[in-house]
Amino acid sequence: MSEMGLETEINDHSIKRLVDHFYGKVIEDDLLGPVFRNAIGESLDDWGDHLATMYRFWSSVMLTTGRYKGNPVKAHMELVDQVEPHFFEHWLTLWTEASEEVFVPDLAIAFQKKAKSIAQSLSFMMFERFMPDTLSARPA
Ligand code: HEM
Repeated sequence: MSEMGLETEINDHSIKRLVDHFYGKVIEDDLLGPVFRNAIGESLDDWGDHLATMYRFWSSVMLTTGRYKGNPVKAHMELVDQVEPHFFEHWLTLWTEASEEVFVPDLAIAFQKKAKSIAQSLSFMMFERFMPDTLSARPA
């Protein structure tokens, strides 16, 4: 932990802090909150399984622990009628904020890079297009 209370190491404890902090924002969010509350539950009390899945997911992604066994593409394909490409940009904005509030800058950036590349893949699988920022950077 740094003097500012920011995490200086990626481990189970700091991943849990980030995931809890991020989904605390998501559940309250005007754009993303309804999608998540509809799929998972209205109150954070219903979110235990989802949060536990996300601890394992980020442990697998950042620490290559292989603890996550699941199918994110399938889970998000089921949301295709409720989500639009720009929702992913907003997800990443909240993730950037949350990671900067929990981790020292270098580590926050590492979480942001991974999330961005996964968000791009999910957006592409769902919509056959990338998020708006990358879309505008590509020829049509
Ligand atoms: C528009 C943005 C997103 C929305 C609205 C969204 C929504 C959701 C919802 C509602 C679930 C729960 C599904 C269920 O349990 O019924 C879920 C699961 C999950 N999400 Fe997302 N998500 C978004 C972006 C992302 C991104 C960018 C990542 C990764 C960086 C991610 C990773 C996951 C994972 C790993 C699961 C668990 C899938 C499983 O194994 O059950 N999501 N998401």
